[in-house]
Amino acid sequence: MAILKIARMGHPVLGQVAAPIEDPGSPEVRRLVADMLDTMEDAGGTGLAANQVYVPRRLVIFYVSVDRAEREAQAEDGEAGDELAGDGAGDGAEATEEVPLTILINPIIEPIAGPGAVLGEDRVLGWESCLSAPGLAGWVPRHRAVRYRGIGLNGEAIAREAHGFHARVVQHECDHLDGVLYPQRMTDLSTLSFTSELGARSRAETAARDETAARDEAAARDEAGEA
Ligand code: NI
Repeated sequence: MAILKIARMGHPVLGQVAAPIEDPGSPEVRRLVADMLDTMEDAGGTGLAANQVYVPRRLVIFYVSVDRAEREAQAEDGEAGDELAGDGAGDGAEATEEVPLTILINPIIEPIAGPGAVLGEDRVLGWESCLSAPGLAGWVPRHRAVRYRGIGLNGEAIAREAHGFHARVVQHECDHLDGVLYPQRMTDLSTLSFTSELGARSRAETAARDETAARDEAAARDEAGEA
């Protein structure tokens, strides 16, 4: 087992379409998975695609703790509510559940419609970062819900539906296999930020919201006075 070097944005391997893995149980694949697990843990990542360690094969790993799932669900509800997310309903309890450590070989992913939503239009905005673009984060629209299938390390079939942050992570990792990094999915590049500045950004946004709320309240008071 070893900690592998992670390719950084701009390296051609990250733009390659990865090839399917023909023998998921082979010793080479097992060694690669073991090394990727070590690498992801060492880097503190949520997920890792094989391209990111210079192996353009269709394999991703990911894990979301329950704490992380809850934090992300709160951030999505709070910040995306007025934009693409609608009212934030429909994620259900599933969005805040732990995602078990998953090794997914040759994944196939498709969007599914959440309750009451039109397929393809049900997207949510959320912050993403990537081990291949260290120090950066951006506001990325993703399908709220997806269904994915693939093969596990012991040849078992994996088939799941995912919502919320779970769905976001799977979309991010599977994009890597098609040579796509999250900035290519962004619709508002002005949100591409250094993570070290995000604290300042969120303080500024909160202040702006408070100011707007105060203005609205004053306007409401004025109107009430006139009536
Ligand atoms: Ni990534």
